[in-house]
Amino acid sequence: MNEVQDSKPSGLDRCAGGQSLAPAQAHSLALEIRALKQRLNAVILAHNYQVPEIQDVADYVGDSLGLSQQAAATPADVIVFCGVHFMAETAKILNPNKIVVLPDKDAGCSLEESCPPDQLAALQRTNPNFYTVTYINCSAAVKALSDVICTSGNAVKIVEASPKEKDLLFVPDENLGAWVMEQTNRPMTLWKGNCYAHVEFRRDSLLRMRQRYPDAKVVVHPESLREVRDLGDAVCSTEKMISYCKTSPARQFIIVTESGIVHRLRKECPGKEFLCAPVFDAMRLPTDNCRCCECKYMKMNTLEKVRDCMKHLAPRIELPDDIRQRARLPIERMLEISARP
Ligand code: 13P
Ligand code: SF4
Repeated sequence: MNEVQDSKPSGLDRCAGGQSLAPAQAHSLALEIRALKQRLNAVILAHNYQVPEIQDVADYVGDSLGLSQQAAATPADVIVFCGVHFMAETAKILNPNKIVVLPDKDAGCSLEESCPPDQLAALQRTNPNFYTVTYINCSAAVKALSDVICTSGNAVKIVEASPKEKDLLFVPDENLGAWVMEQTNRPMTLWKGNCYAHVEFRRDSLLRMRQRYPDAKVVVHPESLREVRDLGDAVCSTEKMISYCKTSPARQFIIVTESGIVHRLRKECPGKEFLCAPVFDAMRLPTDNCRCCECKYMKMNTLEKVRDCMKHLAPRIELPDDIRQRARLPIERMLEISARP
């Protein structure tokens, strides 16, 4: 099989973003959810990786930064957070008196798992001059140990604003951290964590795809490996991917991130074509089947679970007061730096 045929994923431009429920079922659940939303004075916040039917009932769909900004500003009494656990925790840290529910309490994140707070505290003790810049993909206990939080959308700005006399410790994503170092020329000690989903993208399969679609722009999330980031026409957060594709004169894009984002891209960029870059399958071999990147944690949430968490106001995010209070400061610092011109 030659290189180009090998790279030909079946129906690549059609996969991802498809409805996983029958339309009638999705419609009736959406009606129930809208009624519950009104009764509870709730707001539904959804990440760009959520399944299409959840995105379609949400009040706001965005990246981690946009979701934190929405959570900080909402007048709602109940926040229904359709994303992963650390995102809902961030909303709770910012809204201690509101009810925050998450459709599936087990929707975690490999980055959060990679950084236990006791291990971070031990590393911090090795250098009293460390200034800890922490990617938002971490637990509340890790946030509580941090000087400032960042997201992929503002990491460069946050690092540029960090005190010059300090030694920067960047946790927990070594790939995002390495990309930020390239952008800022600021040396940093990097925690050895990664996103299990984004590190599955590979340079050789992306090169084959570029060969097959030579006019397509390649848009890469910075959690990817450097060999993949280096092939990107743009390297950015999921929200910036949407604005990049909207404003670019190109008609075709290869999207190197979790495939849920394609739903918004297709809705908001009519007439443009979005191709999901393939990942390796479980056997680490290229296959001819759909090989879209899916985050198993993000995909734990379903429309039924959204309805159920609103009906029962559970699973609910609760945090010990001391952790919540200590974690709030570095998040507020991030929001303040982000708002600077
Ligand atoms: P964004 O903030 O770019 O949406 O990224 C969140 C995330 O978890 C990426 O895997
Ligand atoms: Fe975490 Fe990766 Fe899933 Fe994002 S895609 S929530 S970084 S495991």
